[in-house]
Order: sequence, then C-alpha cells, then structure tokens
Amino acid sequence: MTGLTVLASGKGGVGKTFLAVSLAHALTHLGRRVLLVDADLGLANIDVQLGLDESLGLGRAIAGGLDPATLVQDRGGGLSTLTGAGTGKGLDGLATARLEDAVERLAGLAPGFDDVLVDLPSGLERVGPAFIRKARRLLLIGSNEPTSLTDNYALLKLTRGAAPRPLFVANAVADAAEGRAAHAALARACRHFLDLECAYLGAVRQDRRVPEAIRRQMPLCLRSPQAPAAADIAVLAKRLTAETPAPAR
Ligand SMILES: Nc1ncnc2c1ncn2[C@@H]1O[C@H](COP(=O)(O)OP(=O)(O)O)[C@@H](O)[C@H]1O
Ligand SMILES: [Mg+2]
Repeated sequence: MTGLTVLASGKGGVGKTFLAVSLAHALTHLGRRVLLVDADLGLANIDVQLGLDESLGLGRAIAGGLDPATLVQDRGGGLSTLTGAGTGKGLDGLATARLEDAVERLAGLAPGFDDVLVDLPSGLERVGPAFIRKARRLLLIGSNEPTSLTDNYALLKLTRGAAPRPLFVANAVADAAEGRAAHAALARACRHFLDLECAYLGAVRQDRRVPEAIRRQMPLCLRSPQAPAAADIAVLAKRLTAETPAPAR
C-alpha cells in the first residue's frame, strides 16, 4: 500500500516545503505519479513556492466538510497537488475528530498514486503528530544546528510507539560529512534514550540557488537543474523509489 509520506520537523525553516516540492518533481521525473499535499494550512507555502493561485484549498475544504479528493488538481507530467490556501487559520482550530477524519480521508487518496508527499507544519502541536501517526513513511528534516536536533528529538519522543521509523534528511548542510554528522547525533540520542532506530536517507547541500528558485516561484529542478542541491534531491528521490517500487502498469 502507498500510504502517506509526511515531511516533518520539530523546528521551522529547515526546508520541509522546499523539499516536499522538489522531491515531488524529482519523483515525477522518475516516472512516478505523485500527489503533493500542503497540510501546513496556516502558512500554506506550496502554492507560493510553485506560483499557483488557489482559491479553494484544502483548509476551506476541510472546514466546509468537502471531500479533499474533489480538490486534487492534475498539474500534468505525473504531478497532482492539493494545496492549502484558502484559510489562513490552519488545522489547529479543528476539533480532534474532524482533524483525524481529514487525515483519514487524505490517506484514502493514496492508492491512486505512487507517492503522496505531505508537507506538515513544524512543531509538536496537534496537526503534525496527527499526520505522523497515520503515515506510512516519516521523513524527518533537519539541519546540523543543535536546535534542529533537540526539536526533532522532542517530536520523535512525542510520537514514539505510534509513528513509522523515521528516515532523516539533512538539509542545507555544507557537505556530505556534515549531513552524516547531523544524522549521527540524532540517531545516537534516539537509540540511547528512546530505543528507536533513526535511519538516514541522505543530505541536500546548502545552495544559493534554492532561495533564488523560491523567489522566482519555480521548482529548483526546472530553474537550476545543474544546481548541487538539485542533484542531491535527485539522489534522494531514487533512494525513496528503491524502497517502494511503483507497481507495473
Ligand atoms: N538546501 C538549501 N540551501 C539554501 N537555502 C535553503 C535550502 N533549503 C531551504 N533553504 C531556505 O530556507 C528557507 C525555509 O525553507 P522552507 O522550505 O520554507 O522551510 P520549512 O517548510 O521547514 O519551514 C527557504 O526559503 C530557503 O530560502
Ligand atoms: Mg513550510
């Protein structure tokens, strides 16, 4: 079963939205059918990073009791999106039952795709953990900063026992060694204090073409296909597909 692949982090500003958008594109380049979901409704960044204009987003759909399936937009080339604009309020105000129902309905869309990537809000508030508990795969995004490490540790501690085994992605690091060091520090704490294995997917380098592409509201792989960060993301996408091959069709 496909299930949801959620991109989470304890701390904000570590690159979840950038990686969700970029991985979604990289996966479509590998021939996969991808649904990209913006669940960070309060901030709703995906439509901004992609330069989309959404009048009816996921937030409004959930608030109004609409089926999210009716809001999936086919963007061509294997990419579909379910973006978050249209509320400015976030999912935090929703009753728990409504929130869980929304997560359930999104999970119900997964069988129609090879990958469903969900960009989560940062932190330990209800929305992130609610998605993490229903996810098939947890991509935990972090940098090599101590605050990123401690906040990711806190998120894993909170969801321990109810979440899939985390796969760590180091973002905006100087080089591969810094990425491995960031993972090693988190993995050590998880093993020692939580009895939890934290696996490593890989690293994306700090690259000035990333903010440049975001400013232009274009995916990095289209704006700067030769950028080191774009090459790193292509490698991560390949590793993800090696884990879950698409069914023959
Ligand atoms: N690999 C990278 N290299 C350089 N800058 C990056 C990289 N990844 C993210 N950034 C910068 O960090 C900012 C925050 O990223 P974003 O994806 O919005 O984080 P989050 O969704 O986790 O809050 C982006 O606007 C971008 O400028
Ligand atoms: Mg974000």
